[in-house]
Formats: sequence, structure tokens, C-alpha cells
Amino acid sequence: MSAELPDASAAAVEEAAVQAALEDGLAAVAAAADLEELKSARLAHAGDRSPLALANRAIGTLPGPEKAAAGKRVGSARGRLNQALAARTEVLQAEAAERVLHEEVVDVTVPARRVEPGGRHPLPLLMDRVADVFTAMGWEVAEGPEVEAEWFNFDALNFDVDHPARQMQDTFFVADAAGGGDSGLVLRTHTSPVQARSLLTRGVPLYVVCPGKVFRTDELDATHTPVFHQLEGIAIDEGLTMANLKGTLDHFARAMFGDAVETRWRPAYFPFTEPSAELDLRFSLGRDAERGWIEWGGCGMVNPNVLRACGIDPERYQGFAFGMGIERTLMFRNGVTDMRDMVEGDVRFSRAFGVEDLSSSGVADVVGAVPADVAGGSL
Ligand code: PHE
Repeated sequence: MSAELPDASAAAVEEAAVQAALEDGLAAVAAAADLEELKSARLAHAGDRSPLALANRAIGTLPGPEKAAAGKRVGSARGRLNQALAARTEVLQAEAAERVLHEEVVDVTVPARRVEPGGRHPLPLLMDRVADVFTAMGWEVAEGPEVEAEWFNFDALNFDVDHPARQMQDTFFVADAAGGGDSGLVLRTHTSPVQARSLLTRGVPLYVVCPGKVFRTDELDATHTPVFHQLEGIAIDEGLTMANLKGTLDHFARAMFGDAVETRWRPAYFPFTEPSAELDLRFSLGRDAERGWIEWGGCGMVNPNVLRACGIDPERYQGFAFGMGIERTLMFRNGVTDMRDMVEGDVRFSRAFGVEDLSSSGVADVVGAVPADVAGGSL
């Protein structure tokens, strides 16, 4: 390396030359705006090839008597330059650290951009919960088509051909009976066709519930929607009585509304059950305590004609069926007052119910009381 260094020349140690080299160096150090520039200044003015380094090396070539004075001059110039370099390094390092603090500052007050959690709609959530109540008792969950054969929706369930429920005012007809003989298609008006479907496909003994969508030609308002949900239940076995029906529904009611709920039956008529009843609820506690009895659903012992239509011997097998409105259940359970909230799809409505927690301890109370005239009338 040293072979490549410029020749040391005696002129370099002259006082003026040393002074000039020092001043150049100090100026370059002072002008360095950052550590990078300071590095270049150090190389140029204090490096091996710098004028002061050359001067230092030239000292050795001087005649004896001049050596001491030249050595002092050059040594003090190099000392001052190194001091200036050290001082400037400190300043620039502090500046750099300060800049990093500014540039990389994290503003913890900036609002976070986060993905909002969605919410499962409370109706399917509640239907799952209802299904849980029955599967825990050993029942199965069945499904049926929403576009249903008129035969399953009405005929198999013992509806007369001129039963008022079949009229256009109540039922959405999808297709007429083709060629006169076959069954037409309707949007199912209740989940009861699953009674006949389950009897035909699963046979007896039979314990199934079917939660699902049903359709009636109602206008959408606070207490009606043309699409709503029901839970159908059917149990057929040897020796089932109304006591089994009552026990099942009382258990179901308590699972939905807690132990403070009371149940009562009123005689009713459905073509597919005989005898038939409407099931009413009364709440002795909470927001519905003042309201007295409110209707929850229909029920009864399956009409032998339905069993016969499905090839089951009614002398040997009997059973019961029931159907509840899921919307009504949600209204009573969670204080929803307007059915339109259930169909508008506003995530804020769904979120109020949480993702999973519809347990009686964690019932989400959405809004005040429930109107007396809620939808879900009987067929
Ligand atoms: N299907 C009836 C309705 O929609 C309810 C019901 C189901 C009644 C089962 C008795 C037995 O209102």
C-alpha cells in the first residue's frame, strides 16, 4: 500500500501548506451535512493520501534540526482536525438518531383500519339452537324443499280441495298441475309437508324436527313478512299420547324462554291433527310479564288420515306434531319489535346477537316490547 502513496515532499511541511491543509480539512468537516459526507471529508483530509498525512511522512526526510518544529506543526494540525472530526461525528450521529425518531414515529392515535366483524343472522342461529334442543332428546333434523308439491303441502295433510288456505290470497302458486292429474307446485305455506315426507322416507318410529322457510302472500310490515320460518316437529311411535306432546312442548318452551315461562293450550283446528290445539305462552318475569297469553304455535295428534296417506297403520302407530314460528320465538325471546329488521340484512342488527351466544343467560335484548299482533298465523 505504502508504495502507492504519493511521494512525501518537503514542501508539504511548510507552515503555510500545513495551515492551508488544516483549514481545508476543517472547512470540509464543518460543511459535511451527514455522516456519509463526513466520511468522505475524513478520507480526503485525514486519510493516508491527505495533505496532512503526506506532511507527516515528509517530516522524516527533513534535516535533523527542522524535524522537531515540523513535527509539532503537523502533529497539532492533525490533532485539531481529528478533534473537529470527532465533534462533528457526534453532532451528526445525534441528528441522525433524531431524524429516525421523527421519520419512524408511530402515531398511536390514528384510527385503526380494521375489518369489522360480521354477525350470523339471528334466525338461522336460533334455528340451530332449537335443533340442539331436540337432537339432545334423540330427535333427528329433517329438511324439505321450499318449492313443494301441492300434494305434500295440502293433500297429504288432509286439506280439502276447497280449503281456504289453498286460495291465491294465501298461497304462492309456482306451477299448475300438469295434465290435470299431477300435483301442482307451491311455495310451501308451512313446514308440515315434512311430516308426510319424513313418514314416507324415514318410516316409523319417527322423531324429527324440520326448521325452515315458509311463504304466504302477506304484505311486509312490522308484524308480517311474506317469507318467514317455522319449526315443524313430528313424533310417531307406538303408544304416544297428548301427554308426550305436552311434555315435549313444555321442555321446548323452557329451553327457549327459561323456567319462568308458562304454557297453555286452546282448542284449535288443523286438517292434519286431531285433536288440535294452539299453544300459548305467558311470561311471569321480564318485559313480557304484562302482556298475558301470547300465541306461539299450533300442535295436535297426527290425524289418522295423514298416517294412512303415508302408508302407516294408524291402529298401531300414533303420534303428535307441532309447528312454531321462529320469528315469533325470536321476538319473545329477544324483544325484537319489528319483523322488517329481520329481513333488511343490516349487520348491526345481527351483531347485537353475538356470533353464537343465544343461550338463555346471554339473551340479547334488542329493543323494548313485542307487539300483541305478531305474524305467523295458522293455516
Ligand atoms: N302448520 C301449522 C301452521 O302453519 C302449525 C302446525 C304444525 C299445527 C303441526 C299443528 C301441527 O300454522
